[in-house]
Amino acid sequence: MKIGIGSDHGGFELKEFIKKEFEGETVEFVDYGTKSTDSVDYPDFGKAVGQAVVAGEVDKGIVICGTGIGISIATNKVKGTRCALCNDLYSAKMSREHNDANVLAMGARVIGSGVASEIVKIFLEEEFAGGRHSKRVQKINEI
Ligand code: RB5
Repeated sequence: MKIGIGSDHGGFELKEFIKKEFEGETVEFVDYGTKSTDSVDYPDFGKAVGQAVVAGEVDKGIVICGTGIGISIATNKVKGTRCALCNDLYSAKMSREHNDANVLAMGARVIGSGVASEIVKIFLEEEFAGGRHSKRVQKINEI
């Protein structure tokens, strides 16, 4: 699975941690930046990851900023993205099962690396449940 990943300076360290944790036989990351803890603007990285997902360059995306709020808002401006801000395990599971989220956002100043790692695992493994949720996701796509 190819995963596009991006963060601002607030999410840089967690982004690097997630890459190290998950890069392997089944997961390949494409890193859309940022490349250091120097101050940058989170919309640039949400846009880049969102566009990569919609273009099919990657299968799913992960975006990280301090809270996860700004970068999730920015990512969702790219038509075709369903970016879910998940700072807990239950939300991560539901974002896949009910919302077919194609981008995960997290807040590096809100959760620790252990919880973030569990959230990513769930986001990568859980499947969309379909059924009654399909028409709701379809309605999102049509907005
Ligand atoms: C940057 O200081 C911070 O505003 C950003 O990482 C994020 O939390 C915005 O939503």
